[in-house]
Amino acid sequence: AKIIQADFVKSSPGTGDCPSDGLPEFALVGRSNVGKSSLLNSIVRRKNLALTSKKPGKTQLINHFRVNDSWYLVDLPGYGYASAPHELRMDWAKFTKDFLLNRSTLVSVFLLIDASIPAKKIDLEYARWLGENQIPMTLIFTKCDKRKKTKNGGKRPEDNVNDFQELIRSSFETVPPWIMTSNVTHQGRDEILLHMAQLRNY
Ligand code: GTP
Ligand code: MG
Repeated sequence: AKIIQADFVKSSPGTGDCPSDGLPEFALVGRSNVGKSSLLNSIVRRKNLALTSKKPGKTQLINHFRVNDSWYLVDLPGYGYASAPHELRMDWAKFTKDFLLNRSTLVSVFLLIDASIPAKKIDLEYARWLGENQIPMTLIFTKCDKRKKTKNGGKRPEDNVNDFQELIRSSFETVPPWIMTSNVTHQGRDEILLHMAQLRNY
């Protein structure tokens, strides 16, 4: 699964504006600042193809990136960004949900969960919403390189991942596939590429 080419194609304000060439797509979703844009850059081995930021709320449209002229990575705005103006936040949620529910070329949603902190309720709710709507998903745990410096309080990424999976198990009959990643060490990058290739070949 080699990346030969990766190009930004367009930013769309709604599903109807998205590319219509029918190529398979993988969408990156997750809380603001979880590392969606960073993961996209890591997957295609480009530093700044998708814009990243320390400040949450950087990605505000549906962004299509075409890889090897044969499939798309879709960078979506994050959810749960408290300081965005309320109406703007709702609008993001609405066009993101519309895209996830109605996009026929969507192969799988990659739900990113920050493994460096205990899972948030909103992440579990989002996973449940995807499940209820029968949208295929893969759980991607991010920032697995990050360890809390506190002597006894901070949990390890592995512990946070286990805790989240316990929660998932109680609401899903089958636990979705999951991959542990870091955009610093590039842990999980090959695994993600392999996973996407398998999903495309169904
Ligand atoms: P929005 O577009 O605002 O929704 O955010 P995003 O999910 O696209 O996050 P982005 O990729 O912009 O990354 C947010 C911050 O997290 C940046 O400061 C990144 O450098 C940092 N970050 C992302 N991935 C990792 C990782 O694997 N490890 C560590 N330590 N930091 C990361
Ligand atoms: Mg982003």
